[in-house]
Amino acid sequence: MKKILLTGVNGQVGHALLPKILKFQVFALSRNELDLTNSDEIRRVVREIKPDLIINPAAYTAVDKAESEQELAYAINAKAPQTLAEEAARLNAKLIHFSTDYVYDGNKEMPYIETDLVNPMSVYGRTKLAGEDAIRAAGLPHLILRTSWVYGTYGKNFLKTIIRLASERDNLRVVADQFGAPTSSESIADALIELVGKWQPELENQSGIYHFTNTGFTSWHGFSCEIIKEYNALSTNRGWPLLKTSIDNITAITTVDYPTPAKRPTNSKLDNSKLKQTFGIELPCWQRGLQQVMQSLTV
Ligand SMILES: NC(=O)c1ccc[n+]([C@@H]2O[C@H](COP(=O)([O-])OP(=O)(O)OC[C@H]3O[C@@H](n4cnc5c(N)ncnc54)[C@H](OP(=O)(O)O)[C@@H]3O)[C@@H](O)[C@H]2O)c1
Repeated sequence: MKKILLTGVNGQVGHALLPKILKFQVFALSRNELDLTNSDEIRRVVREIKPDLIINPAAYTAVDKAESEQELAYAINAKAPQTLAEEAARLNAKLIHFSTDYVYDGNKEMPYIETDLVNPMSVYGRTKLAGEDAIRAAGLPHLILRTSWVYGTYGKNFLKTIIRLASERDNLRVVADQFGAPTSSESIADALIELVGKWQPELENQSGIYHFTNTGFTSWHGFSCEIIKEYNALSTNRGWPLLKTSIDNITAITTVDYPTPAKRPTNSKLDNSKLKQTFGIELPCWQRGLQQVMQSLTV
């Protein structure tokens, strides 16, 4: 029986993943049970549980706040993965870790591939990259899954913000010059289960970084329009309240019109070919991912 230690169980990805891995012996730990800022605690807990596999979706994900909380972001996104990786290596265990599109600067025109130059533009991106580097240096079987624009029925995310704002206001202004793949936590969880089944950790060349997003691309503006469209298609049958914002009243704005503390890449498009070629796994297109989430959304 495989023993799995899962972190961040109250986060979007951790929460979606937990029900799908219950055929294994799972130790799902929230922040209260394992505070990732405490290296000694991480070492103690991992040594006690002795997992075969650690899955680490926990992270400091407040991208803008990280600009002023650099040390905390570094502790959770870089130091904690390093400690988890060192402890896993000590036990001959394996590690699956999540990273981000924000390790790139976004200046490339085409979708990024895993061997492209990284150049994070934000504290969040730099701390996540440091986490990746530390895991790679620990010399254990590992998968680092770079995903993007995560949302789902659970947790705080763009989908929920758009629905809330569209129910309060007649007009929305949404950034239309950043491009990427909205990726649902459900799609991530489904693909991860498949990956756990197909990964042969003894094959060293399978360890490494993989792009791991729903396929296809859009802008935040395009994503908002699709959210409203899907919401309106379901609202009557579901008895959901009508929205005040219609699709025509979602104004496309530029990044310059919406300044944020953290700089974000304009091009966040990740090419997932390596995942498909290595494991035969492909996440659904982002529109399908959204439809699946909307089916189980409660408003
Ligand atoms: N969200 C995105 O748009 C996005 C985009 C690209 C990549 N990613 C990456 O994908 C992964 C999963 O993201 P997500 O959206 O599921 O993140 P999330 O919803 O923000 O969840 C993160 C989890 O980490 C936990 N956490 C934070 N600080 C902790 C600490 N000191 N000790 C223990 N746990 C702590 C949080 O606990 P609490 O519940 O107690 O706060 C939360 O459960 C992360 O690696 C993230 O960097 C996310």
